[in-house]
Amino acid sequence: MADKPSYYITTPIYYVNAAPHLGTAYSTILADVQARFRRSMGYDVKFLTGLDEHGEKVAQSAEQHDMTPQAWCDSLVPAFKDLWAELEITNDDFIRTTQERQTRAVQHLWEVLRDRGYIYKGSYDGWYCVPEETYFTETQVHHADEERHTEGQHLCPDCGRPLERVQEESWFFKLSAFQEPLLKLYREHPEFVEPEIRRNEVISFVEGGLKDLSISRTSFNWGIPLPFDEKHVTYVWFDALINYLTAVGYGQPGEEAAAELARRWPAQAHIVGKDIIRFHCVIWPAMLMAAGLDVPGQVFAHGFLMVKNEETGKGEKMSKSRGNAIAPREVMDLLGVEGYRYYFMTDVVPGTDGAISFGRMHQVYNADLANSWGNLISRSLNMSAKYFDGCAPAKPAAADAFENPLAQVAEGIVGRYAAKMGAFAYGEAAAEVMELVHAANHYIEDAEPWALAKDPAKADELAFVIYNLLEAIRIAAHLLMPFMPQTSTEALRRISCEAEAGTDDLAAACAWGGLAGGQPVEKGDALFPRLQEE
Ligand code: MSP
Repeated sequence: MADKPSYYITTPIYYVNAAPHLGTAYSTILADVQARFRRSMGYDVKFLTGLDEHGEKVAQSAEQHDMTPQAWCDSLVPAFKDLWAELEITNDDFIRTTQERQTRAVQHLWEVLRDRGYIYKGSYDGWYCVPEETYFTETQVHHADEERHTEGQHLCPDCGRPLERVQEESWFFKLSAFQEPLLKLYREHPEFVEPEIRRNEVISFVEGGLKDLSISRTSFNWGIPLPFDEKHVTYVWFDALINYLTAVGYGQPGEEAAAELARRWPAQAHIVGKDIIRFHCVIWPAMLMAAGLDVPGQVFAHGFLMVKNEETGKGEKMSKSRGNAIAPREVMDLLGVEGYRYYFMTDVVPGTDGAISFGRMHQVYNADLANSWGNLISRSLNMSAKYFDGCAPAKPAAADAFENPLAQVAEGIVGRYAAKMGAFAYGEAAAEVMELVHAANHYIEDAEPWALAKDPAKADELAFVIYNLLEAIRIAAHLLMPFMPQTSTEALRRISCEAEAGTDDLAAACAWGGLAGGQPVEKGDALFPRLQEE
């Protein structure tokens, strides 16, 4: 393992008190696809996800449920772990901010920031949004409008809910000292924030000036206490961001932890939604710089999933009150887990807000999976089994004995695909694979294997065509693996290539001519049964 380069990728840690939903599943699958892809490219991947369990919001909901905050959090964990398992998420660590390792890391960072002179004690007097766990200044606050009958109230500029007035003693982080270093970071490493639209947003925010940040609370105690001022608990976002360091050994005792930190940090990619980029692209790198640590390679901010209003054709924010919220279960019931992953990963452009709809899910599933990929597999395996006695034909002596359009399409495919996958352009990467799949379906129409099978003089050509089809399937299965691991593994199994699943050398696995030939082939049931139109 040690000689493989490290690739460390994270999801946001989700607030424990809201059930996992389509949006949180989206962040998680996005990271999972990248983790799987990187493993196939020979990286030693660490893929982290987990839960954000402290803060006023969690403390309040625990109280409403008449439970201690810890018991309340514990009761909510299985909903996340179960859904991630069902969605085939391959995280190799699951962090909870209530774990001891998190307390150690957070307290260690407090000490480091104090020693380095980046914190000071003062008092905070301003506004706080509990649902968003965010501070707002007087000038940012929205004032109520008549229409909403909220006169006289102070509302959150992000979510519109009433704000709480906070006046308390607090420790501050000298965020204002980092305006120039941050602007330099964005200038010299534009890839630090992707896509560009988010980078521009972050830059103009920082150019507008940075204020020091209140990073401790004294009016409740559900959080990590400061090591040198016990009546303060750490501000929940400050705590949460540190999880990315905790999981790779920061602040933990022992040489192993130090070695892990040296090997894994900085992370290559943090996947986040566009709503939390200020925390990840401004506060987080400033915290790291203050602590004398490297900043991560990239924060990739995806858009929001919007539900397409069938009447107006426009995307609307999902919400329970609008009655348009879609639960992960509904999508899984319709498309299966693999169809679910494929749809969200390839049809929603990751950097933009994606308008999703059941109609479009049907369309994409039927067009790409049932009619193209699934159909290619069942037709090809059926013909192979039928004409070659349950086996694949022998490998042709030469790849160019006859015209071979599939080998041409497959030429260089891994390079093109990998460039797109690495840049989170999953739809474009999948389109490369679909080009091969479509070419293979056309090849069947053009070569007419059923006609070749009737003419003993064409036996070589028949073997050549079927071999090429199986080879295209083998390669496409490898490339679709990050999106649809189960069905891709099953496709490989049916052509006796299951040992190749989980390769860490994708380019070698996808080299044309890798199929041994002559091995058993199993037709099996349809991998993607066609959906009836709505
Ligand atoms: N706890 C913080 C993150 C701390 S990370 C150090 C948090 N948690 S969250 O539970 O609210 O959800 C986080 C993720 O879900 C974000 O990436 C957010 O963008 C994503 N989504 C929530 N609703 C969404 C959609 N409708 N669409 C896509 N993603 C959305 O914030």
